[in-house]
Amino acid sequence: MNKILIAGNWKMNKTVPESLELIHALKEKLRSPCAAEVVLIPPFTSLHSAAEDLRGSDIQLGAQNLSHLGSGAVTGEVSGTMLISAGCKYVLVGHSERRTLFHESDALIHQKLKTALSEGLHPIFCVGESGEERDAGKTKDIINNQLTVGLNGLTLMEMRKITIAYEPVWAIGTGKNAKPEQAQEIHEVIRSRLASLYDPELAQGTRIIYGGSVNPENSSSLLSQSDVDGALVGGASLDADSFYAIINAIK
Ligand code: 13P
Repeated sequence: MNKILIAGNWKMNKTVPESLELIHALKEKLRSPCAAEVVLIPPFTSLHSAAEDLRGSDIQLGAQNLSHLGSGAVTGEVSGTMLISAGCKYVLVGHSERRTLFHESDALIHQKLKTALSEGLHPIFCVGESGEERDAGKTKDIINNQLTVGLNGLTLMEMRKITIAYEPVWAIGTGKNAKPEQAQEIHEVIRSRLASLYDPELAQGTRIIYGGSVNPENSSSLLSQSDVDGALVGGASLDADSFYAIINAIK
């Protein structure tokens, strides 16, 4: 059984003072040890102060993006090394908002995964189909292709640092979460793809988390599915009470 991971992707929300206010509220609530690994993923601008504030706590930090290039003349980008120095352990790669708004291809996402790993980060690799793709019966093909291209050539050792997030695009920010059995079905598809690309042991040990309209009401039924190893939470992670309720759903 993999340790459950509950990650809060704050997206482009929260100034530095607002970030610290949310972190203080969460730290108050998370005083006693909890069964999940909790990861906060604030915007870049809040990372360093968040890391200072989280020093000594069990809460981990992640970033929402990184450059596929190393350091140097790359105006406007942020490298993995910078993220490590700001206190990050995790980084999101392949989020659907990056794929659609910033035209990130599977090939670029693969580059980002390679760069993140070589710089010492633990990527949370997001995959998911759009509503049209689901309606056309293409969900499994889309997911399998995203996995095959994204993970192309990664070693077993690199794979042990990767978490996969299944985030159906139609469920993100819509209030229309995947039904628990729909999430379970695709998590099984992902696990069997990992088994065929690598081996069953690696597949079993890889955390596969679900994202898309997770909230305090639906989290326990989603998290009770056998192949759901956690949640990637957007909107509901912006409020300490609702994020804490999701973390508590696994007790
Ligand atoms: P919501 O929880 O707001 O649907 O967002 C999900 C998401 O995109 C997390 O990365």
